Amino acid sequence: MNIVTTIAEVKQRTEEARNQGKTIGFVPTMGFLHEGHASLMKRARQECDFVVVSIFVNPLQFGPNEDFERYPRDEQRDRALAQDMGVDLLFCPTVEEMYPRASSVTVNVHKRVDVLCGKSRVGHFDGVATVLVKLFNIVGAHRVYFGSKDAQQAAVVQGLIEDFNIPVTLALCETVREQDGLAKSSRNVYLSQQERDQASLLYATLTQAATRLQAGENVQTIAAMVEAEIRNQTSGTLDYFEILSYPSLEQNINHDERVILAIAVQFSKARLIDNLIVSRQ
Ligand code: PAJ
Repeated sequence: MNIVTTIAEVKQRTEEARNQGKTIGFVPTMGFLHEGHASLMKRARQECDFVVVSIFVNPLQFGPNEDFERYPRDEQRDRALAQDMGVDLLFCPTVEEMYPRASSVTVNVHKRVDVLCGKSRVGHFDGVATVLVKLFNIVGAHRVYFGSKDAQQAAVVQGLIEDFNIPVTLALCETVREQDGLAKSSRNVYLSQQERDQASLLYATLTQAATRLQAGENVQTIAAMVEAEIRNQTSGTLDYFEILSYPSLEQNINHDERVILAIAVQFSKARLIDNLIVSRQ
């Protein structure tokens, strides 16, 4: 595995690979890698000849009161994990390398951002879209891999790819979970032991909500159940619970074949998100 820090090196290595007729798979991450990220790399390894992973904690997507400074980092462990997954090229740029000067153009996302995380994290998806346009142009991958753990992000990125005619295919990968159902996340390390025990409730509640929805129960009743469950059984506060059509993220749940049930809970030091995407019945 090659580890590089400059854009020029990535361009050179990926161009070599393309010239050899290789397909390039790309997994963008913010590091502190876990089995969720590993599953994306594994799939990229299976489907592509040359696998690129980026590790970049992107300041543009963090709000002023969010955790950019204290976002967990562990370069050594990340390198070992990427190496184990058979990654060809690991790109770890500095903030200066990615943003050498104040940007003259940034991307503004219009659709699918007035719901779920977009509602409370204003500007977050603009930051995600902006860094991804840069990374997609730098890497020139054929396929990019995203997790459905961040289903709204994947839907926004699909819109970005289509609207900007980016010649890349998005592959959506299943959420990887702990044994008790908690979705793996770099932010789980912020949880106290008590919060960690309670956190499995997010998935349990989503599963229960999905069963009720498919049994025909109405959205308001289900939302009330979820709210009560989080209030009574955890020390966290419910940021949102929403049932939307997927991937359009419309309030009218009959808009698509599938429905997303999504939840965000704020614990003392970590805001956790999770979702389930199911068919309407
Ligand atoms: P990060 O949170 O590091 O996630 C990188 C990728 O890993 C995302 O596509 C995310 O959905 C996926 N992922 C995270 N946890 C997962 C899990 N438990 N199971 C499956 N996949 C999982 O998302 C970002 O970074 C950034 O916003 C980024 C796209 C890199 C842009 O900065």
